[in-house]
Amino acid sequence: MSSRLAVELAGLKLSNPTMLAAGILGLSAASLREAIKQGAGAVVSKSVCLESRSGYCNPAVFQLDNCGLLNAMGLPNPGAKHFAQEIRDFKKDESNAPIIASVFGFSADEFAEAAQILVKGGADAVELNVSCPHVKKTGSEIGQRPRLVSEVVRSVKGAVERPVFVKLTPNVADIAEVAEAAVGAGADAIVAINTVRSMAIDIETAYPVLANKTGGLSGSALKPIAVRCVYQIYEAVKVPVVGCGGIATWQDAVEFMLAGASAVQIGTAIASQGLGVFRSVSNGIDRYVHDKGFRSLKEIVGLSHRR
Ligand SMILES: Cc1cc2nc3c(=O)[nH]c(=O)nc-3n(C[C@H](O)[C@H](O)[C@H](O)COP(=O)(O)O)c2cc1C
Repeated sequence: MSSRLAVELAGLKLSNPTMLAAGILGLSAASLREAIKQGAGAVVSKSVCLESRSGYCNPAVFQLDNCGLLNAMGLPNPGAKHFAQEIRDFKKDESNAPIIASVFGFSADEFAEAAQILVKGGADAVELNVSCPHVKKTGSEIGQRPRLVSEVVRSVKGAVERPVFVKLTPNVADIAEVAEAAVGAGADAIVAINTVRSMAIDIETAYPVLANKTGGLSGSALKPIAVRCVYQIYEAVKVPVVGCGGIATWQDAVEFMLAGASAVQIGTAIASQGLGVFRSVSNGIDRYVHDKGFRSLKEIVGLSHRR
């Protein structure tokens, strides 16, 4: 891998700027390790809370024509203590890249307690999911209120000595305001974005397609929304921004970097391209940086903001 691609992100060292997004293949040490083997510079786990949850009934995922996926999984997970063991297993492999544990809770204290357990298990950083659009009393119900975001971030920062990433929801009037609240409370990086709240209706049965009725939209339809969010957050805060939403090609990733992303997360594209997407995206970014005459990736981050 070219050294041009190396990234330092809130103190974490990544061999390249591609990361596995939360919730896609992130529930076992084996699948997280496989993502790294196939070229991801870092991995984010499935979101985990204190106690195990079974999530929603099927249909929980629905493929939309050509524009992405709709999901309302309901944040199923085995609970923090159980998942900490997967992190320990992942960490046994010396060559492993950073693992970031995605955490959620139903109060600031629960976020902090789950984060502590996962950091004890070996997580290099935590990502706070204050942005899931389909589970009540957590996720975007927190992420839509800057005061609650501050409370959660402050509580986690007081509990763990690892970088804290905060993943934001686009389902707000002013995402920059929420990013500022997170950074004001100590966030070390912002991840933008989680899915957009949406729904689909089956015209034969005349029922909503998802068992939960509404869910989150991911994939290519999300990309222009996510690029706009990254652009606005980059102007508002000084910490690194990680772009996420509809990235499927190296051109998509470069666009996010020009908007201000220091790294990118990939989720839905894995369903169509497999884990090979990490290598094809990072190789393409490397060629772009080289062909345009830049010495490093850093030089393209936020370049679209120049006057
Ligand atoms: C099936 C599925 C499950 C997801 N689970 C989580 C999750 O547990 N935590 C989270 O923060 N985001 C979750 N997400 C959101 C993704 O991490 C990502 O923010 C979103 O899908 C946009 O990126 P993409 O278009 O590359 O998929 C999930 C997305 C999908 C499609």
